[in-house]
Amino acid sequence: MTFDALTSPLPMTSSPDLRPLLRERVCVDCGCTLTGVLGLCGDCAEVRQWREVEGRRLAEQKVRQSRWQALCPPLYRHTDWAHADLAPGLVALVQSWQPAPGRSLLLTGGTGLGKTRAAFALLQRVHDSGRSVYALHAGDAWDHGSHLQGLASAVRLQYHEDPRVAQTAAHCLHRARTCSLLLLDDVGKERASGQTGQLSEAVGEALFGLIEHRLVHALPLILTTNAPGATLQHRLGPDRGAPLLRRLLESCTVVGG
Ligand SMILES: Nc1ncnc2c1ncn2[C@@H]1O[C@H](COP(=O)(O)OP(=O)(O)O)[C@@H](O)[C@H]1O
Ligand SMILES: [Mg+2]
Ligand SMILES: [Zn+2]
Repeated sequence: MTFDALTSPLPMTSSPDLRPLLRERVCVDCGCTLTGVLGLCGDCAEVRQWREVEGRRLAEQKVRQSRWQALCPPLYRHTDWAHADLAPGLVALVQSWQPAPGRSLLLTGGTGLGKTRAAFALLQRVHDSGRSVYALHAGDAWDHGSHLQGLASAVRLQYHEDPRVAQTAAHCLHRARTCSLLLLDDVGKERASGQTGQLSEAVGEALFGLIEHRLVHALPLILTTNAPGATLQHRLGPDRGAPLLRRLLESCTVVGG
């Protein structure tokens, strides 16, 4: 019951039959005497309302935390920003960058610089503010058991014979297109053909389609890669490589080498 409902006076238009309800009572919480309709004094009603609001806030926080744990692999949950191996530019970026419509980020550079850590720190800030975020590995490195969190694996499994698997994969792809901020990690780490070095048609199309869709609709993305631009371009093939790279360079703030 809300504070208002507990303490609001009887409407003046209420039936005179209700007037006798307004009598001296003892507050059920603190034992003070009061004159009212309900057995709760104003102070105690306020305390109850505060507890209710606080309980709801804690429950929401718990849900948010468990959603974050489902999204962020354990390795990236705790980052010490004073760690000597992390690129100093990334630390400054984590402190300052804010996503906005049409403002995306491309984190590049060699392995071990902290790109993925920085990306998760930014994503968590947006998640904590209550907006929908999602994170996919471009290949399948974050999948474990039935947990699916890779673009290439979702593409592969979206037509799986088990409808639950197919549905999970379709849900991954849908979230990646629609969330308010997407992290796509390790672009260039998807499995490519040993002969041509190119992605499969399905993965190339999904990667191109997802990035293009988000950029065209000004839906922010954080991408990380340690593959040079020429490698990314080659992996996507002649039709998609050059346009995608151009679009990325047009739309993203590029951080790193
Ligand atoms: N708890 C920690 N806090 C900060 N940095 C860490 C921590 N544990 C390991 N590292 C460093 O983080 C780096 C890897 O971060 P990561 O984001 O995976 O890099 P990248 O994505 O650029 O390859 C490594 O250099 C490692 O030494
Ligand atoms: Mg990484
Ligand atoms: Zn009371």
